[in-house]
Amino acid sequence: MSDERIDTICVQDGYQPGNGEPRTPPIVQATTFKYTSSEQMSRLFDLSESGYFYSRLQNPTNDTVAAKICELEGGAAAMLTSSGQAANFFALFNICNAGDHIVASSAIYGGTFNLINVTMAKMGIEATFVSPDCSEEELEAAFRPNTKVVFGESIANPALIVLDFEKFAAAAHRHGVPLIVDNTFPTPVNCRPFEFGADIVTHATTKYMDGHGSCVGGAIVDSGKFDWMAHADKFPGMTTPDDSYHGVTYAKDFGPAAYITKATAQLMRDFGSTPSPISSWIMGMHLESLAVRMERHCANAQKVAEFLAADPRVSWVHFPGLPGDRYHALAQKYMPNGTCGVISFGVPGGREKVSSFLDHLKMVSIATHVADARSCTLYPAGTTHRQLTEEQLEEAGVGIDLVRLSCGIENADDIIADLDQALAAVQ
Ligand SMILES: Cc1ncc(COP(=O)(O)O)c(C=O)c1O
Repeated sequence: MSDERIDTICVQDGYQPGNGEPRTPPIVQATTFKYTSSEQMSRLFDLSESGYFYSRLQNPTNDTVAAKICELEGGAAAMLTSSGQAANFFALFNICNAGDHIVASSAIYGGTFNLINVTMAKMGIEATFVSPDCSEEELEAAFRPNTKVVFGESIANPALIVLDFEKFAAAAHRHGVPLIVDNTFPTPVNCRPFEFGADIVTHATTKYMDGHGSCVGGAIVDSGKFDWMAHADKFPGMTTPDDSYHGVTYAKDFGPAAYITKATAQLMRDFGSTPSPISSWIMGMHLESLAVRMERHCANAQKVAEFLAADPRVSWVHFPGLPGDRYHALAQKYMPNGTCGVISFGVPGGREKVSSFLDHLKMVSIATHVADARSCTLYPAGTTHRQLTEEQLEEAGVGIDLVRLSCGIENADDIIADLDQALAAVQ
């Protein structure tokens, strides 16, 4: 693990050129790799020798970017996927089979909720969702003998709820299972979940890591700390020979890289959610400015949240950076240097008024996206959640007055001026 500070890792890690080699990582836009010995190719297939042979499984450009994200999180091994959805699916499915059970925080991104609640349920993997604010007893009651993993989001999208890592990690470890945390919103610049007991971290790199609305992608990072062999009966896929891969036993043969090796060898092989090397390269370039961008995103969000909180035309504001926010204390504990650039707030007066407010924005664009250099906003009750009744919206924590705002890296005063004129236009 690197001793460098996080902003240095963003710039320097993942790729170290040799003398006379290109300073930036080469884009290896190749599906396949040439060998002169079929025996060596057999060894690659047996995983007894490491090397590239087909980009569906591994590609050198993707690996340089994965290595940087691994260092950023302080992990032991990492892989990229073609989207954040693929990352969360692989992270869970790598250790859950039909008949297994997941304990998940109910405050997670809607796409991940659907993945677990609907699609993985169709695969025979059940889930119990718990409130992130539940008591230790309530969390304990969610576990079953067949529970294989606990899942949560470090800052939930769009609820902006900060996960109590230590509470969730302690419960997971009491039951001999790992805690997986989607760390998309704070990024490792603001929060490193492994330091608070998480075992595996996922990312929608589509968000702040790319940060420029250009590449859909995901990442999985393993801390390498979870002792699979100590819970061998729960995780036979990790601890017994894999007949579909020449009898390797991941937890015995690959040490701290076991979990990522299994996800690559089995899940990438069979599902193939591989990112394109060009997309990974672009995202990798954008990672170099991640720490600088996060600082500005957070500073802007703080200033904008303070403006909105003091404005009588706005009914409420959720932003964990605000001292009065319900999750401020947890944010101070787990991410004292900053949270993220996303704010939610209420514009009273009904659906038409909220839609009209958004339509009056000039610089802040309407987009189904967050965590972008350009400020953007979305009215969930009028778009992503428009099929829900008012009661269902309240239950989902998405009131008809809720506006989600992702503060970009423009000048905060220009974001505030745009919000101010749009609020004035709808009074
Ligand atoms: C926290 C979080 N996780 C996962 C995802 C899914 O990522 P992707 O859109 O890259 O599939 C998103 C998307 O918004 C997200 O916000």
